[in-house]
Amino acid sequence: MDYEALFQAELDGLKTEGRYRIFAELERKAGNFPQAKRFDGEGGETGTQDVTVWCSNDYLGMGQHPDVLGAMHETLDRCGAGAGGTRNISGTTHSHVVLERELADLHGKQAALLFTSGYVSNWAALSTLASKLPGCVVLSDAGNHASMIEGIRHSRAKCLKWAHNDVADLDRLLASLPADVPKLVAFESVYSMDGDIAPIAEILDTCEKYGAMSYLDEVHAVGLYGPRGGGIAEREGLMDRVTVIEGTLGKAFGVMGGYIAGSHAMCDFVRSFASGFIFTTALPPALAAGATASIKHLKASSVEREAHQERVAKVRRRLNAIGIPMMDNPSHIIPVMVGDPHHCKMISDWLLDTHGIYVQPINYPTVPKGTERLRITPSPVHTDGDVDRLVSALSEIWSQCALARVSMAA
Ligand SMILES: Cc1ncc(COP(=O)(O)O)c(C=O)c1O
Repeated sequence: MDYEALFQAELDGLKTEGRYRIFAELERKAGNFPQAKRFDGEGGETGTQDVTVWCSNDYLGMGQHPDVLGAMHETLDRCGAGAGGTRNISGTTHSHVVLERELADLHGKQAALLFTSGYVSNWAALSTLASKLPGCVVLSDAGNHASMIEGIRHSRAKCLKWAHNDVADLDRLLASLPADVPKLVAFESVYSMDGDIAPIAEILDTCEKYGAMSYLDEVHAVGLYGPRGGGIAEREGLMDRVTVIEGTLGKAFGVMGGYIAGSHAMCDFVRSFASGFIFTTALPPALAAGATASIKHLKASSVEREAHQERVAKVRRRLNAIGIPMMDNPSHIIPVMVGDPHHCKMISDWLLDTHGIYVQPINYPTVPKGTERLRITPSPVHTDGDVDRLVSALSEIWSQCALARVSMAA
């Protein structure tokens, strides 16, 4: 068997479809983000280029915040590099415990539980809840993230998919289930690729009507929404009604890690049964300390959130004025619609090579075929000059390639 040829054939298939992933090799400039250095060619042997990053999920620039860096430096010097073990076997440090307290407080919950990433928190928590509650049925929004889908699949529990953000469909499915089986409704607040927001209050009403638990992924909302950065559920006064709130420390909080927050018993249950929590080395204490500093800062300061919303509105307004087609949504995510994987990659390459503007193309399977896009994420650290350069570069390429513009909305 020629395994190399088998690998190559699959890779060639991706290339033919225009969805082979090519990573941009970057070095973010601390203190100067969203500016970064791009290494060109293998390991940068053909040179470097200064670029402006327009597709980062470090939505607020907290990855370079002095409080975050200070806490990480201090903890690294005091405690060393790694945690040294799983949480059970010598890896639970004071920094982890403090962070879990901070997270519980952020979401107004009794407890929180840390994981090494948001992906792992979804995978581990959903697979554990759904597999360990006898007869549990999961009701999963059709737009859910891969980490949720994989966790549910791994649980081997029965899963019913409800139409995206469609509360009537959720109601119909819940009504079809016996009253006495455990039910878990899994959904997100801000959907990361379309930027739409779930009708959380109506979903919770429906969960409560049928006695179902709710599992809300706030990965693209924590730090960004709500008076203390608790997410959309905080903004809408709903946190106490959600059974499990899941989030990441790697996006708006600028560091790394994931978590769930909820009741003592629920967190203890996942802590005690989830292999994705038990059998892996704990996050380095310096990461935990950096995340705590970031959360603390964003609990007390809305300056970053307000500046973020202002930047998003400005970029939208400017792109709208020149007819660049965007998916309309009420969040901070600006999907510029291209609709073809080859065009999407060509535009992205051209922005990077000609203008030093980095926006990664988003292709299938991250989004459905025919909806390929550039996902632009403005942040408070993008200057007016950065915005001007982005808008004029997009206008230029739209003209040069005779791409369709939409009628200029008011
Ligand atoms: C909705 C959603 N949930 C979870 C994750 C995983 O979070 P993390 O990047 O911290 O692993 C992502 C990552 O992009 C996401 O978009």
